[in-house]
Amino acid sequence: MIRIAQPLLGEEEEQAVLAALRSGRLAQGPLVRRFEEAFARYIGVREAVAVSSGTAALHVALLAHGVGPGDEVVTSPFTFVATANAVLATGARPVFADVSEEDFNLDPARAGECINERTRALLPVHLYGQPADMEALMALARRHGLALVEDACQAVGASFGGRKVGSFGTGCFSFYATKNMTTGEGGMITTDDPELAARARLLRDHGQRRRYVSEALGYNLRMTEVAAALGLTQLQKLDALNERRRANARYLTEHLPGATTPRELPGRHHVYHQYTIRAGRGRDALLGYLRDRDVEAAVFYPLPVNKQPLYRGLGYRQRLPVAERLSREVLSLPVHPGLSWEELDAVASAVREGLAVGRAGRVAMRGAGG
Ligand SMILES: Cc1ncc(COP(=O)(O)O)c(C=O)c1O
Repeated sequence: MIRIAQPLLGEEEEQAVLAALRSGRLAQGPLVRRFEEAFARYIGVREAVAVSSGTAALHVALLAHGVGPGDEVVTSPFTFVATANAVLATGARPVFADVSEEDFNLDPARAGECINERTRALLPVHLYGQPADMEALMALARRHGLALVEDACQAVGASFGGRKVGSFGTGCFSFYATKNMTTGEGGMITTDDPELAARARLLRDHGQRRRYVSEALGYNLRMTEVAAALGLTQLQKLDALNERRRANARYLTEHLPGATTPRELPGRHHVYHQYTIRAGRGRDALLGYLRDRDVEAAVFYPLPVNKQPLYRGLGYRQRLPVAERLSREVLSLPVHPGLSWEELDAVASAVREGLAVGRAGRVAMRGAGG
């Protein structure tokens, strides 16, 4: 089976983890601090705060901005459920604005229509590794005095207008096992605001600036030294890993004529966490065809967040036509840097054949009056 994701770990990671284990210090310590400094430098911001997951990064970032009960946060419905759940976890209400057909990201015009006196923050997602329209979203946040929190969990290393995502607002990253760089589980918050970073540090550690003195309600959302050792090593490889993803994406696009392949919009540096085609009504048949050919493809995401049972139960009933259409049509193909050229070629051939079989089937059905 050609896998849709596969962590690429080598000798360097093994040595770094061994050294961390042998240091005698396992919980948050000097390696976490070094990882934060290196990551802040990489993104181009003053501060980075390491946490235990991308979900924790989003939760802590929103809390650090003072988001809470009675507030609304405008976000994308076409994302992993963690984005909106982090808002719910603060006691605030996620408000979904439909996404753009261009980049599948929060549509700034529609987001603008959702803003009212309760709105506290904008929470765009850089889906699949393509930055959202940060110019328009920054202008919107400024105009209405809103916090701007970026869900950059899928987009580490991506940039908009030459500037890294996570440096426009408060950045939230995930280092989950399938992400472009990994620590197994892990996350990071990036910001230029030292006070916000200080609040985030309190929130991740039971409100403790000094040990056993709790100043505020916080949690245990700390990163381990072993995770930080992995992160420091993976960060050094990140640009090369992302370049390989981009080369793989180019190869797929060149070898999938006739398919609706992803578009990298001008001024945006896409890091292809996912390579996602629009397969139309034949999507599920194509997914099955690929599985039979030992190619693992996947649907991110089969339900917009507002249609999840959790959100239906909370009373969400709104129609968001673009997100709904995309969730019926999208299909992500293997693009990760561990693929050989032979495997990439096998993916492209299987997709071409699957699409041709689908077209022939539809023609036959029309011929039979179907
Ligand atoms: C868009 C998005 N937001 C948030 C998350 C949550 O990250 P984590 O799984 O590290 O909690 C993920 C990843 O899983 C994601 O893809």
